[in-house]
Amino acid sequence: MTEGKVTPWDVSGTIDYNKLIREFGVEYISAEQKQYLLELAKAKGLQEHIFLRRGLFFAQMDLSEVISAHKAGQSIFLYTGRAPGGSMHLGHLIPFLFTKFLQDLFDCNLYIQFPDDEKFLFKKDLTQSKVDDMCQSDLLDVASFGFNIEKTFIFRNSEFIAHMYPLVLEVSKRLTFSQARNTFGFTNDSNVGMIHYPALQITPTFFERGFCLIPCGIDQNPYFLLQRDFAVKMGFHKNATILNKFLPSLTGPAGKMSASDPSKALLLSDDAATIKKKINKYAYSGGRETLEEHRKFGGNTEIDVSFQWLYYLFEEDDMVIEQIKKNYESGSMLSGEMKALFIDKVNAFFSDFQARRVQCRETNLLRTYMYEGTLAKAMWERTGH
Ligand code: TYM
Repeated sequence: MTEGKVTPWDVSGTIDYNKLIREFGVEYISAEQKQYLLELAKAKGLQEHIFLRRGLFFAQMDLSEVISAHKAGQSIFLYTGRAPGGSMHLGHLIPFLFTKFLQDLFDCNLYIQFPDDEKFLFKKDLTQSKVDDMCQSDLLDVASFGFNIEKTFIFRNSEFIAHMYPLVLEVSKRLTFSQARNTFGFTNDSNVGMIHYPALQITPTFFERGFCLIPCGIDQNPYFLLQRDFAVKMGFHKNATILNKFLPSLTGPAGKMSASDPSKALLLSDDAATIKKKINKYAYSGGRETLEEHRKFGGNTEIDVSFQWLYYLFEEDDMVIEQIKKNYESGSMLSGEMKALFIDKVNAFFSDFQARRVQCRETNLLRTYMYEGTLAKAMWERTGH
């Protein structure tokens, strides 16, 4: 297997999370931190989130600071984002699903950045009009998660830039080329837009004076590690992150689900028949070569993509998932049966999601998040830093 590679733009190979944690300067979520979040959820009448229970969200940077701030009644806000430029697939849902849970937990403001400049700058053949089309569709997807309408602001960099530019300048002035190069590996061939982009992704961590918590995939952490070098000098708190692992792509247990080949990824826009076809055709199986061998030796749930998705996202019941694991590993359950379970769960999830998306479009909810909600209006009125 190829060794894993993780940068904010490229995740591939088999990822050694122990190693990544050291390289990225982050830590595992501790038992105490997890307990605090789970107890808070209970107190608020929320479900213990499956991502926390089963460890999909597994690492963090300064989460204890946020917890202490919350205990002391200090202000907290959430920030996350999505860069349009490829199709949105099942893996992209992960941070947003968890962000919704955290917003319910902390009842706080949430900023969602759509850097419609990022992929244009980083991907050679992408045009601005293509990004624009994709951005519209992704915005609607993200608006369908049910975030608090009055406390959420969704913005596109190209549109909101004048209002955040004074802050962007404060950040760019403090971020040197050598820091950016060391962190992101820029070379002489990198365009200057790429070199400046980190300032844009860091800026929303300064949208409020309170404690900023960022739920996202671990690949995005390098931006937020840089923020800590100058946040305090700017008169703000250092940002904190809570980080998820990558759910595997359909075709293999390694890396993140890649939308570079949309025909092999589960896209949020796929219908039931397409989902079924893609899973049956491409979902990497941990089953044995022949039926006989499978019955005799059993399958491998560690690499079976359908099982992995059921475990981390779709099958919440601990007893049921344990039974599935047992049956598969003992050989009494076959790969086709595992895939059938996965297909049913994805389709139920997608039909619900797509219905909410239609409702979101019909009720113009996106406009509220972007322009008309309480937080959105306040953000558009702001000019300084
Ligand atoms: P983007 O659009 O590539 O990805 C959006 C979020 O999805 C996470 N992700 C995954 N998580 C689990 N399994 C997967 N297979 C998977 N694939 C992607 C990513 O880690 C990310 O959290 N630069 C950012 C956009 C951005 C942003 C932010 C992200 C702007 N501001 C603040 C997080 C926080 C990007 O390209 O994300």
